Amino acid sequence: MTDLADPSFWALPETARAEALAALRQLDRPQFFAPGGDRAQGFHALVRHADIVEASTSPELFASEPSVTTPPPPRWVRTVFGDSMVNMDGRRHTDLRRIVQKAFTPRRISLIEESIRRICAEIVDDVASRGQGDFVQTVAAPLPTHVICEMMGIPRERRGMVMAQVTGSTELIGVEGAQRRRLRVPGRNLAALTRLHMLVRSIGAQRRRNPAGDLISDLVAAQVDGDRLDGRQLGAFFSLLLVAGIETTRNAITHGLRLLTAHPDQRDLLLSDLDLHLDRAVEEMLRFSTPIVQFRRNVVRDCEFRSATFRAGERVVLFYASANRDERVFADPERFDITREPNPHLAFGGTGPHYCLGAFLARQELRTLFRELLVRVPQIRASGEPEFVPSNFDNRIRRMPFATGPG
Ligand code: HEM
Repeated sequence: MTDLADPSFWALPETARAEALAALRQLDRPQFFAPGGDRAQGFHALVRHADIVEASTSPELFASEPSVTTPPPPRWVRTVFGDSMVNMDGRRHTDLRRIVQKAFTPRRISLIEESIRRICAEIVDDVASRGQGDFVQTVAAPLPTHVICEMMGIPRERRGMVMAQVTGSTELIGVEGAQRRRLRVPGRNLAALTRLHMLVRSIGAQRRRNPAGDLISDLVAAQVDGDRLDGRQLGAFFSLLLVAGIETTRNAITHGLRLLTAHPDQRDLLLSDLDLHLDRAVEEMLRFSTPIVQFRRNVVRDCEFRSATFRAGERVVLFYASANRDERVFADPERFDITREPNPHLAFGGTGPHYCLGAFLARQELRTLFRELLVRVPQIRASGEPEFVPSNFDNRIRRMPFATGPG
């Protein structure tokens, strides 16, 4: 019997997980899972595409407060580091989202297109000169790190440290996290968060004196109800943008090369006409890999939801990874098909007020990078097995070897 609350489920091979999720989608109502039988920590699992869209677009019934992650951040983390807008609803959320929203519109992203292209070109120079190495460290992690740091105004010499701290701050998430917690190895998470917060506070103080037209300057100048963001709010924003923008895109890029390698027919098709196929190929990489496996919502009041009864205060988990294989929406969903059209995947969420702020930016990064890679090193491929990190939160690959020569 499938148990989505059991960490070992998320360590099963990909095909076994996909089969189990497909079986859950056939059931006539959402199932309830309780880790170790503890009902208070349990959740209703939404696995169908339509259910996730409905829950994401009904914040009056499915709230983000008190938290969208399971387990939620400990209370002390919120006290010390502040809370982030992902865990907020209504006016509190919109006021904060508005501060950064303008930096992520298609028009603003088109202004930084040239700088994304330059970063991609430098990365591909490095790939071409090395010929082989770890794709995550050489390509997938540096691209989103440089892009978001450039938008924020973080100097180049600090970006290696940012990349290491972002990896450290998310290291304890998911199955591996659960196992480590059982082994009682705390600390790295806290140290990583602290370093990121100290960095933003020091750059924020400089930008207050000398605004530089970057995102940190916008953040330190912003006001909510006449008040400036305090140091904690600034830190919470900063780590949200870094963690949300780097880990996700990094995993999407790595899965992209993995999928093209595993499906040579699709890769040949893409190479036959990049202009025609690239945009759809990127959407299919996002659907197929679903970098964020799930997010949680919290039931506001008792309600009926597709033959199930949800009680106020209960948790509901939106499994994007399952929605993106829903046979009601995608024909032959287990097939990686770069010509799929339409492709209404939920990799960036089920629309609604929390829909991914960086969706346009992430797409732009993926398109620009794969164009540059496939034009300049068309033989690039994953030359060995990826090292997956089993997790019920993100679809993470820690390392994956690449080679640019024929296999
Ligand atoms: C392939 C890359 C990415 C994926 C798969 C992804 C996925 C997601 C998902 C699933 C959500 C939750 C949506 C919801 O709750 O309805 C989200 C929210 C968010 N994402 Fe992304 N994301 C990606 C890239 C980015 C980038 C580059 C940024 C920019 C810094 C970013 C910033 C955010 C923020 C700030 C939120 C919270 C929005 C809110 O609460 O209002 N993401 N993302």
